[in-house]
Amino acid sequence: MTLTIRVNDLDVNLQTICDLLCEGKCIGLPTETVYGLAADATNGRAVARIFEMKGRPKFNPLICHVSGMEMAREYGRFDPVSEKLAQAFWPGPLTIVLPLAEGTKVHPLVSAGLDTIGLRCPEGPARDVIASFGKPLAAPSANRSGKISPTTAKHVSQQFPDAELMIVDAGRCAVGIESTIVKIDDGNICLLRPGAITSEMIAEVSGVIPVATVSNKIEAPGMMESHYAPDAAVILNCDSCPSDAALLKFGNRMPNAASPVSLNLSETGDLVEAAANLYAYVKQLDESGISKICVEPIPMEGLGIAINDRLTRSAAPRGIT
Ligand code: TXA
Ligand code: MG
Repeated sequence: MTLTIRVNDLDVNLQTICDLLCEGKCIGLPTETVYGLAADATNGRAVARIFEMKGRPKFNPLICHVSGMEMAREYGRFDPVSEKLAQAFWPGPLTIVLPLAEGTKVHPLVSAGLDTIGLRCPEGPARDVIASFGKPLAAPSANRSGKISPTTAKHVSQQFPDAELMIVDAGRCAVGIESTIVKIDDGNICLLRPGAITSEMIAEVSGVIPVATVSNKIEAPGMMESHYAPDAAVILNCDSCPSDAALLKFGNRMPNAASPVSLNLSETGDLVEAAANLYAYVKQLDESGISKICVEPIPMEGLGIAINDRLTRSAAPRGIT
């Protein structure tokens, strides 16, 4: 049975949450991007429990969430480029992959045995919980592996109906898709996963233009072909929609579509609004029981790059994970 605490009651429950984390339990934690399944990043058993609950392949490293630069420096080695990015975008939806700091106390399971660590300082209640706990929290998105990331507390409890899990409910996530992930290597910036912090924003702050990684090695879940998958088949860039398919709209391209069920990511064509609605709407259409979801074209600019990235994964042939 999951137990939900409203974010307004967070203060009175902070001690209980910290006690649970101390015992090595996982909690459902809202961030500005998506809800995370969080546990003490220095406790191997706690981190193992995250993998177990998610049914997640062990080779996939977790993001380590910190309350600020001071904590971050204990875990990752910053260089001038990463320092600039953290100063500009933290707290916020940017994960920075850095060399592990010497003598770091993070459990090796968090970085899946790599000599790097993905660090992020989230905004809002998650940061308060980490500051109060005094140690970083490893937290992947709070969904079963390969499923759609949760953007409400209810989505989290639906993913883990039988787990004893405390979930902090802060309503819907403002950004709605996972953080941008960059890897800093010798002053170069590799974009491992697109997100709300765009390449243009990163280039402007750092003076370095990020390169999208082309690698056979799985470095971010966005590189696994089928990910973020609903049960229905997803068809992208549709200009028409058959009468037996659900329609995910963007703007007003098909005013007369015959679809029995449709949702509009943003009637005005606002990419920020579309990102915030994306997972909740795909989930809602999927739950209508329909076997196909047609998606209207989303422009490949700004946040549209991250939205298209996630949609392409959800449309990929299943089983290639
Ligand atoms: O917005 C987000 O990033 C959310 C919220 C909860 O913070 N978290 C999230 O975590 O999306 P997750 O586990 O679903 O995706 C994180 C990905 C990992 O799967 C991994 O591929 C990449 O970040 N990552 C983490 N550490 C890494 C490392 N040391 N090197 C390369 N990639 C890493
Ligand atoms: Mg995830």
